[in-house]
Amino acid sequence: MAPVDPHSFTDSLQPFATHVALTLFLDFSSSSIIGSAVISLPTSHSGPLTLDSRAISISAVLDPVSLSPLPYSSSSADPIKGTPLTVTLNHHSAVLILFSTSPTSSALQWLSPAQTSSRTHPFVFTQCQSIHARSVFPCQDTPAARIRYSARINLPLPLSAVMSASKLTRRNPAAGEAAPAVPESLWCAPGRVVEEFTMDQPIPPYLFALAAGEIGGRDLGPRTRVYAESGSDVLDAAAKEFAGVEEMVRVGEALFGPYEWERFDLLVLPPSFPYGGMENPRMVFLTPTVIKGDATGAQVVAHELAHSWTGNLITNKTNEDFWLNEGFTTYAERRIVEVVQGKEQADLNIGIGWKGLIEEMDRFKDNMQFTKLKTKQEGVDPDELYSQVPYEKGFQFLWRIERQIGRLAFDDFLKKYIATFKFQSIDTETFLEFLKANVPGIENKINLQLWVEGTGIPPDAMEPESTIYTKIVSLAQEFKLGKIPREDEVAEWNGQEWELYLENLPNYVDPTQVAALDARYGLSESRDWEVKVAFLQLAISSGCTQYFGAVERSVKQVGRMKYLRPLYTALVRGHGKDEEKMLARRIFAEAREFYHPIARCVVESIFSQHL
Ligand code: BES
Ligand code: ZN
Repeated sequence: MAPVDPHSFTDSLQPFATHVALTLFLDFSSSSIIGSAVISLPTSHSGPLTLDSRAISISAVLDPVSLSPLPYSSSSADPIKGTPLTVTLNHHSAVLILFSTSPTSSALQWLSPAQTSSRTHPFVFTQCQSIHARSVFPCQDTPAARIRYSARINLPLPLSAVMSASKLTRRNPAAGEAAPAVPESLWCAPGRVVEEFTMDQPIPPYLFALAAGEIGGRDLGPRTRVYAESGSDVLDAAAKEFAGVEEMVRVGEALFGPYEWERFDLLVLPPSFPYGGMENPRMVFLTPTVIKGDATGAQVVAHELAHSWTGNLITNKTNEDFWLNEGFTTYAERRIVEVVQGKEQADLNIGIGWKGLIEEMDRFKDNMQFTKLKTKQEGVDPDELYSQVPYEKGFQFLWRIERQIGRLAFDDFLKKYIATFKFQSIDTETFLEFLKANVPGIENKINLQLWVEGTGIPPDAMEPESTIYTKIVSLAQEFKLGKIPREDEVAEWNGQEWELYLENLPNYVDPTQVAALDARYGLSESRDWEVKVAFLQLAISSGCTQYFGAVERSVKQVGRMKYLRPLYTALVRGHGKDEEKMLARRIFAEAREFYHPIARCVVESIFSQHL
C-alpha cells in the first residue's frame, strides 16, 4: 500500500478513477440516499481497488456489464478517514456499487420542513470539503484525484435540485433505469421526478455538491443566476446583494485568465450552512448571513469566485498543501475587491486578516507546527485543524513575493502559473520549483524555506498601511484608556470597520465599558453577523452576563462555524466558569439538531478540549 494522502485510503499503485455515474434516490423520510455509482477507470485493471467511504452501507459490488458480483471487503472504521472499501477486479475498467447513505453521513444535512424558511418542504444539501464526499458515495476521496461525473437524481415533485454540474433535464422517472440499485416501487412512485446533471470537467471529489429543496432562481447576468429557497424573501434580497457578480467575473478574468466553468451561479442556503461560502464549481454555496443589504457580502462571493482559478483549476494535492488553495484565493479575492470596491476596502480586509493570523499564533502556541504553511496532517482531522493560517500566512507569502518583484511581474507570473497547472492537483514543492524557474534568484531575496516550513509569522510579513486602518487600530487601543469612539469618528463606518475595531480590542475589558459601547452603537443587535459575533465574543470574555440571551439566540439562529467556534469557545474557555460551561452545554443540546453534522463535530470537539 502506497498512500497518496494522509486523509485517504487511496493507493498510488492503483489507477485513479476518471468518471463516476451516480443514480441517487433522495429519501427524505429516512434521511438517506439510496443509490449506485459506476466508477470508471482509464484502462482495465486487475487486483484490488481501494475506495474511501464513511457511514455508507454497501449492498452489492457488481460488474456493470454482466451484473455478476465482485469480491469486496471493508475493514473497521478509522475515526478520521472512515472505512476503506476494497474491491477485487479482474480485467475490469468499471465497477458498479450499490449503496445507501445513513442519516449520520457527515456531508449531508437533511432539514425537515419546519427547519426551512418556507416551512412546507424539506431540504437537503452537501458539504464535501475536506473529506466528506466519501459519506455520499464511495470514491477515492483525495484532491490528488480528479473525476468527471454524471448524476440522475430522483426527488419529490415539488422539489428541484442544483449541483456543481450542468443540469440536462427534468423528466418523469423511467422504469428499469435505476435497477438494480433502487426498487422500481420507489423510483417510479407517484409524485417523483428525475433530474439529470453532468460535470464534464475533471474535479477533485471535494467539489461534488448537491442541494435539493423548494429552490427558485433569478438571473443576474448572462452566465450568473442566484438560487435560494423560494417562498422566502431571501431570493429578492440575494438578487439585490449580488447584482454586481457578472462584473466581478470579468474582473477575475482580466486578472487571472479565462473563466473556465461556463456558468457562475450562486445558491443561498438555509442558515445552518456551516461555512460562509463553498466554491462548488458552477454553483457556489453561500450562507444567508452574507446578505447584509449593503453589498459587503460581495467579499465572500469574490473569494469563492477566485477559487474558480485557484483551488478549482489548480488544486492542492492533499490537505497538507491547503494553503495553495486558500492562500492564493485570499490573495486573488483581495485583488478583485481592490478593483470593485477600492484599495481602502482591500486594505481593511488585509488588516482584519492580519489580526486573525496573530490570534491563530496564540491558539497554536503549544502546537506551533500548525502555524506552518505546509503542515503534516497524518492523524489530524482537517475540520479541527481549520484555521486562518493557510489563508492569511499564505496571503502574506504571496503579497511578499508581489512586493519583491512588482505587481506587473507578479500578475504575469500568476497568469502563467494558472495556465500551466490548470486542471491539475499540485503540491507546495511544485509551486516553489515553478516560482524559482520563473523568477530566477527569488530564493536569494526571500527566505522561501522559512515561509513554507517555518513556524510563526516571518519577519518580512507586513501589516497593511492605510489611513483608515491605522485610525481604527489606534482608536481600539484607546479603549483601554476608557475611550469610546465618538459618533463623528464612526460616522463613515460600515461592518468591516467595526469588525476591525472590535477585533483589535483587548480580550478582557471592563464590563461596564463594553455595555456602554453597545448602548451607544447597538453592536449586539447588529444586522451584520461579523460585527454582532465579534461583539458578543468580547462580551462573554469580559464577563458581561447580560448578553448571554443574545448569544443563545445567535447560535440557535445561524450554524456558520465561523460564529459557533468563537462563541462556544469563549463560553467554555478558562477556569471558574461553571455557569458558562453549563449554559454552553444546554444551548448545544437544544441547537444540535439544527446544526450540520460537521458543525456538530466541531462544537463537540471544543467541549472535549475545554470541559
Ligand atoms: N473552501 C472554503 C471553505 C472550506 C474550507 C470548507 C475548508 C471546508 C474545509 C471557502 O472557500 C472559504 O474559505 N470560505 C470562507 C469565506 C471567506 C474566507 C471569505 C468562509 O466560509 O468563511
Ligand atoms: Zn476559500
